[in-house]
Amino acid sequence: MAKTKLHRYERVKHLPNVTFSRLGESEPPGLYPWAKDCYQGMERVLELGCGKGEHSLGFAQANPHRLCLGIDSKSHRICVGAEKAIAQGIENVLFLHGRIERIQEFFRAHSIHEIWLTFPDPHLKNRTRKNRLSGAPFLDAYARLLVPGGLVHLKTDNDLLFTYTRESVELWGGRVIAAAGDIHGPDACGSNACGSDTCTDIHTYGDSRFGARHIVSAFEKKARAKGSSIKYMAFKLVEQ
Ligand SMILES: C[S@@+](CC[C@H](N)C(=O)[O-])C[C@H]1O[C@@H](n2cnc3c(N)ncnc32)[C@H](O)[C@@H]1O
Repeated sequence: MAKTKLHRYERVKHLPNVTFSRLGESEPPGLYPWAKDCYQGMERVLELGCGKGEHSLGFAQANPHRLCLGIDSKSHRICVGAEKAIAQGIENVLFLHGRIERIQEFFRAHSIHEIWLTFPDPHLKNRTRKNRLSGAPFLDAYARLLVPGGLVHLKTDNDLLFTYTRESVELWGGRVIAAAGDIHGPDACGSNACGSDTCTDIHTYGDSRFGARHIVSAFEKKARAKGSSIKYMAFKLVEQ
């Protein structure tokens, strides 16, 4: 294994803004760091599969009144974001090393305002499609965590995952409220950007437009370098 990776595995264990969760060892949701009094009254935003945390960091900087939580199962990636947060003095971002399948163990029901799925693995093979983060079992969990009216955002370069997510949300009983087939393209706000009549202007969704357009994660950078278009979707599972 590369030395840098090994060092990160070690360093991340000592970072004050990273929480580790082990199977069978979860705390009651009220005992995790994000439930502390100092974060009372702050809206909570989750990034699931945060990788090196570019999105969580960017969103935390742009939204100092919100608490951003990046979750990933790879601690050496989390290490990069958590160290940057400390170096830059960003206090409204925390990281959790854990599996998204267990997400309901970590947060109180109806306590999350937004969930971001930033470049989730598309799981193209039939035998792994159950792991897609916009599949029904995950939507069930998000619905239990979100406040009424809370939003889920998806950014992806993968057409299949984009189409799958729309179908999955609609089948589940949720509502796609914004979608764009190419957020950086000239027609990003046009009515046919995503090829659907629910395509809406992403400019209208307040803070989310910042996350959708202006924060570029490691995976987005790679996808754009290959010439892929970046797709965005916002949906609601629990109406207000
Ligand atoms: C394609 S990468 C995207 C990383 C980052 N969001 C970005 O845009 O650069 C997907 C990330 O999701 C994480 N991941 C995938 N499935 C997961 C799961 N079930 N639980 C926790 N993390 C997961 C992977 O470890 C990986 O870091």
